Amino acid sequence: MTPPQRRCLRSVVRGAGAYLPPTVVTNRELAERVDTSDDWIVQRTGITRRHLAGEGETTSTLALAAAEAALRDAGLSGADIDLVIVATSTPDYTFPSVATQVQAGLGMHGGVAFDLQAVCSGFVFAVATADKFLASGSHRRALVIGAETFSRLLDWEDRTTCVLFGDGAAALVFEAEEGEGTVHDRGVLTSHLRSDGRHCDKLRTDGGPSATGTVGQVRMNGRDVFRHAVGMVTDVVTDAFAITGLTARDLDWFVPHQANRRIIEASAEKLGIDPAKVVVTVDQHANTSAASIPLALSVALADGRIRRGDLVMIEAMGGGFTWGSALIRW
Ligand code: ACO
Repeated sequence: MTPPQRRCLRSVVRGAGAYLPPTVVTNRELAERVDTSDDWIVQRTGITRRHLAGEGETTSTLALAAAEAALRDAGLSGADIDLVIVATSTPDYTFPSVATQVQAGLGMHGGVAFDLQAVCSGFVFAVATADKFLASGSHRRALVIGAETFSRLLDWEDRTTCVLFGDGAAALVFEAEEGEGTVHDRGVLTSHLRSDGRHCDKLRTDGGPSATGTVGQVRMNGRDVFRHAVGMVTDVVTDAFAITGLTARDLDWFVPHQANRRIIEASAEKLGIDPAKVVVTVDQHANTSAASIPLALSVALADGRIRRGDLVMIEAMGGGFTWGSALIRW
């Protein structure tokens, strides 16, 4: 199928920024506290280390640092932004939203700011949501942030989950720009979001404000998640190819959610994506949930891999289940 060819507003990336808390915990250090080993974690997940938020650091402080870095990169200030979306499942408080805390931290008094929760798919959902706002003409510049402190939701006695996650935040600044309506435009070319609540219990917390009055801790049926992950993410990537007429060969970079190296490699292989085009940071960051894709993007931007004009596919799958993809020409 070829996409519609009419002039339209595209959400074009203007800047990117990231913040990782300075405390790094290696697998070996973790193995001193939990019954696990560097070998087991590397073999099953590809993870070697993770950053963990320290005292005084919260999701909003991480998010604000990432937002400031992205605005600096874009050469903009908070006053230039009229939409802030923070994808997170680990807000500082049940309310207010992290997004309004970031808005205050940036000294923004206008526009609108809100959080979006789709767990590990949160960043893809937030990009798709911001794109709808910008493409409609209702807003002009969006700050889209993925920020998490999953370490605060972990049961540090449960070796099946605590070794998998890390903390961090990263952000993109998007600006509405008129495009030709073709796949050669810069900006978000298409996005595809899905969810299926039948899988709610496979990856969840065992608490929450309304159910228990606590935040709860992460509980996961790892094998079930693994079993569904590859099929779900490859479906939404295929949807993006079908609607644009592009193929795996057209991609410059594939930047998947960084949960597990085996899921990433199996997805890329199923889609026929050259392994050299796959950006992998799970080894350094572990799974930072909604922050993982923008963190991976920021690494690939900083080392010069992703350049203006490149075609970049992002995709994720997470609790709910939720899953989605977005195809962006940088
Ligand atoms: N260290 C050492 N041994 C462990 C650990 C650990 N950290 N965790 C589990 N084991 C043991 C288990 O107890 C089990 O032992 P047993 O055979 O004596 O019973 C053995 O290792 C195998 O356990 P499995 O759960 O079958 O291991 P598996 O190969 O499935 O790997 C993993 C587990 C890594 C969680 C895998 O299922 C997975 O990657 N699932 C995907 C889930 C995921 O990535 N979730 C992240 C969040 S979701 C998302 O972002 C999409």
